[in-house]
Amino acid sequence: MGHWTLDDINWDSFEPDKVDTELLKLVKAACMIEHHSSAYGQYLCAIFNEEPGVCEDALTWSEEEVQHGKALRRYAELADPNFDFDDAFARFTKGHPIDISAEQSIRGSLCGEMVARCAVEVGTSSYYSALRDSIDEPVLREICRNIAADEFRHFKLFYKYAKHFQETERLSRWARFKIALGRFLETGDDELSFAYYCGSGDTKPYVRKQANTDCMARTLPLYRFEHVQLGVGMSLKSAGIKPQGILGKTITRMLWIGFRLYARHLQRAASYA
Ligand SMILES: [Fe+2]
Ligand SMILES: [Fe+2]
Repeated sequence: MGHWTLDDINWDSFEPDKVDTELLKLVKAACMIEHHSSAYGQYLCAIFNEEPGVCEDALTWSEEEVQHGKALRRYAELADPNFDFDDAFARFTKGHPIDISAEQSIRGSLCGEMVARCAVEVGTSSYYSALRDSIDEPVLREICRNIAADEFRHFKLFYKYAKHFQETERLSRWARFKIALGRFLETGDDELSFAYYCGSGDTKPYVRKQANTDCMARTLPLYRFEHVQLGVGMSLKSAGIKPQGILGKTITRMLWIGFRLYARHLQRAASYA
């Protein structure tokens, strides 16, 4: 049972004049990635089939993620009646399949799989927080607020499991940090940009680098320091590094500077610049 449903959203307060068409492209991309989570739920069940309780939690988690997709889909269709979700999602899943028949984690260990899941929830919680704080349209803001709260809970769930499996697997901090960073970069590199391309209705062939640049050039400027600080802090925690320690603070400050420089570079390189 989720913490909210689509019926809890005050759809009547929708203000079409406040729809930002560029942010709407990000909403369409997020909507497809969220819908894809049911496949990840099955993947996690297969990987953790010998671990009591994990499969149940993974299925509840994926139901909540799919609900995020449904809320965002309904919003996207409200804001853009020409949005053809079925067509866009079919293109997305064809080009970005998930191996649900896997029997072993592609991260190499159970703890590593949970650290990778933590990285995803770090990304989504900070993403929806940044989106929530950037939009004027009240319905989308309400949806993003609800989703961001769910994503923080999901992080806590996977963090709990990461600590549990770490007790037996004993991965080094460096190994966990590499997994978290690697998973983070994967999302930024392909999944989100391909979803952005499919949702934008672009009929030109998919050029990964350009789609990635365009998508990230829209996304990264939404983040303020507190969003990055929160996301980096959660990532460090899942890798076993204290965010408030000297090392944690130094990493956060350096990443924020790098983040700002990279965002400016992308804005200059975007096809619409
Ligand atoms: Fe989600
Ligand atoms: Fe989540």
